[in-house]
Amino acid sequence: MTAALLDGEALAARIRAEVTDRVARLRGDGVMVGLGTILVGDDGPSARYVAMKHADCAEVGIHSAHAHLPATVSQSELEDTIAGFNADPAIHAYLVQLPLPAGLDEERALLAVDPGKDVDGLHPVNLGRLVMGSDGPLPCTPAGIVELLRANDVPVEGRHVVVIGRGLTIGRPLSLLLAMKRPGCNAAVTVVHTGVDDLAGLVRQGDVVIAAAGRAGLVTPDMVKPGAAVVGAGTSWEGRKLLSDVDESVAEVAGWITPRLGGVGPMTRAMLLRNAVRAAERSR
Ligand code: GUN
Repeated sequence: MTAALLDGEALAARIRAEVTDRVARLRGDGVMVGLGTILVGDDGPSARYVAMKHADCAEVGIHSAHAHLPATVSQSELEDTIAGFNADPAIHAYLVQLPLPAGLDEERALLAVDPGKDVDGLHPVNLGRLVMGSDGPLPCTPAGIVELLRANDVPVEGRHVVVIGRGLTIGRPLSLLLAMKRPGCNAAVTVVHTGVDDLAGLVRQGDVVIAAAGRAGLVTPDMVKPGAAVVGAGTSWEGRKLLSDVDESVAEVAGWITPRLGGVGPMTRAMLLRNAVRAAERSR
């Protein structure tokens, strides 16, 4: 292996330490930061992600609340739970874990969240703020990827970043963020997906490649410009084993690469904590 590892776990630990200090400062002012999660149904990976978010909260001193609804819940029952979290002064920020089970309307659920409590940055108002370049919570995985690249001094500004995938939580907001004139971004961005012709040829043009398609092993060494930074952000599962969109042999040609575990995932969760603290600081 020749690539340097983009160690998200180490960076996330530093961010959790920063968040711990900010949470303690708020507590000194009489504010107990509260983060909520709403999980609908029994999707295994979603339940594991939510459990990890609560463990992170416990580590940094954030109070966390959880609502677990059955997959059979109606849209209006889900929206009642969302309204309860909106009204609860002990919850400064919360999320509805996605994807929702079939039959529930994700857009309506996201619209029902108070934008000031939207810890995911996925409420249409906050996505609109991202498009406009105004201040607001950034979606956690895109923000975490930008932080991870910056902290490892990966050149991004002025370079060509190829984002594979256009999903709501990663590819679409990340492509906007990376093109913006702000530190660690300011890149030429190409968005591709598994439906484009000559995917390999386009990916090979990237100085930085971010794979967020959710297809295991999609990015292979022949698709990577030697020395490029390659970030595996998409996930899929083989039983309980988390698989990366990036084949591990890519480490032989890349200049930087995320590990299969401990890359983007911990950064996403760290950004969630940061967004929660920011929401509490703003609400004072
Ligand atoms: N499911 C996968 N990624 C995300 C995310 O960033 N936020 C929420 N709410 N659900 C997700």
